[in-house]
Order: sequence, then structure tokens, then C-alpha cells
Amino acid sequence: MAEAEASAISLGPIGVFDSGYGGLTILRELRKTLPEYDYLYLGDNARAPYGSRSFEVIYRYTLEAVRELFARGCPLVILACNTASAKALRSIQQRDLPAIDPSRRVLGVIRPTVEILDKVSESGHIGVLGTPGTVASESYVIETRKLFPEMKVSQQACPLWVPIVENSEADGDGADYFVRKYIDGLMEKDPAIDTFVLACTHYPLLIDKIRRYAPAGVRILEQGSLVAESLKDYLRRHPEMERRLSKGGEADFLTSENPDKFDALASMFTHGSVVSEHCALD
Ligand code: DGL
Repeated sequence: MAEAEASAISLGPIGVFDSGYGGLTILRELRKTLPEYDYLYLGDNARAPYGSRSFEVIYRYTLEAVRELFARGCPLVILACNTASAKALRSIQQRDLPAIDPSRRVLGVIRPTVEILDKVSESGHIGVLGTPGTVASESYVIETRKLFPEMKVSQQACPLWVPIVENSEADGDGADYFVRKYIDGLMEKDPAIDTFVLACTHYPLLIDKIRRYAPAGVRILEQGSLVAESLKDYLRRHPEMERRLSKGGEADFLTSENPDKFDALASMFTHGSVVSEHCALD
């Protein structure tokens, strides 16, 4: 009977959603840490960037993407996008999931990042670099206050970093000006900052320049490995979800933009070739 029940469960991949290419930096780490699972990546490239959009629009777009990934069989979806996690995660978890399917889960990237801050920062002064949407939501400030009320969090919006990455200019000379400008802006807010949080999944693509202009001794946190370790822990604590995940070690890719265009830039993020399919979102 138990066997018959188990075989009746339909297995599906872990859905990974981002507004565009940034979530691929998270997917890369997920596949390193949890290689046995299947993944279905969805990039809403046609409507990216999300960073400067309003709460209502980001919430609507993110919900459409989550529904799409559910419709394609994902029991669990990771919002591999800080902007979507900041603006849409709570509403989707509390308002939409109970109505859509209470047995499925949607998780974000902010909590796993904040959880380890006490282990990396000595001064307790944290600098958050993110999109205008993530910064305006104050999600990092609020989440950090809950876990570590003694810490001081300063934020800097970096509106041009995502367009620089999405236009393949991350290694270009023009990027230096804007990387330096936002880092200087952040340090002016609090010179005691000893830890930078790269609170946007696109920013690891700018890591060389960020290291170049960060003050000596500042630690730079990338989220991929943090999110991957957190998911591993989550699946250990939730065997009922773990059992619903298919295990073939494959990754498939969907984009709301032109797949050829997606594949060309996506390979830069994944360090391997990508073949995507088009998926209309609305
Ligand atoms: N990669 C997304 C994030 O982590 C933002 C990119 C965008 O602005 O669309 O916030």
C-alpha cells in the first residue's frame, strides 16, 4: 500500500525563477550542492529588469511565473531574485499559495542570506547593495533587525548594475565608474561596514570590479552557496517535499524572451552551454 501511494506521487523539478539571467548564479550553486535533483529555470527576460518597477507590477509578474512553474509540475519554487523575494514572496506565501495549492512551497533568497550575517561580520555593520526595489522594500533591514537587532544595516541602490550585466558590459571599462560610484556611496553612509551583501543575483557577474573597489578587508557575500546550503537543510527537515522532487540531475530552461538571445548570454552565467525554450507569461 505504502509503495502504491509512493508511486502515485507525481514527481517534479525544483523551479527556479528570476526576472532574467541573475538567478542562473543561484542555479549554478544549487546544482553543485544538490546535483541529484532536476531543475526548471524560468527567466522573465522579456520584462526584466524588475528592479525599478512598482510593488504591484513585481508581485503580479512573479505570481504569473510561479503559476507557470507549478503548471509545469514543480512542487517547490525558489524565487532566485531579491527583488521578487522582497516584493512578492510574503504575499504569495500567505495569500496565494493556500488558494492555489497548499502542499506546494515558494521560498526566497533574503532569509538565507541574513541568517549567516552574525558569522561573517565582526563589526556588525552591514552594507547592502541591491536594486532600487529591494532597497526601497527595506527587506534586508527588517529581516536583520528580527534576527540581530544590534546590527546596523546601510543600503545602496545600484540601478545601473543590472543593465550593465544584461548588456554584457560587466567586463567593460564603462562598468568601473558605476561600480565605484555605488560602493563609495555605501561607504559614505557608514565607514565601519565590514561586510557587503550582494543583494541581487546579477551582481556576482561584477565580482571582480566589486572586489577592486571595495575597501580592503571588507567581506563580500554572494548568495548562491548560502541559498543552496539553506535549501539542503530545508529538504532535510521536510522529507514530505523532498520525496516529491524528481532526481535525474537535469536542468531545463525557459525564457519569456527570444531563446537564442537567452542562450547566448546565459552561458556566461552558467559557465556551460544552455538551450532554452520560449514561454509566454501573462
Ligand atoms: N536579479 C534580480 C535580483 O536579485 C534583479 C534584477 C532585476 O532588476 O530585474 O534582485
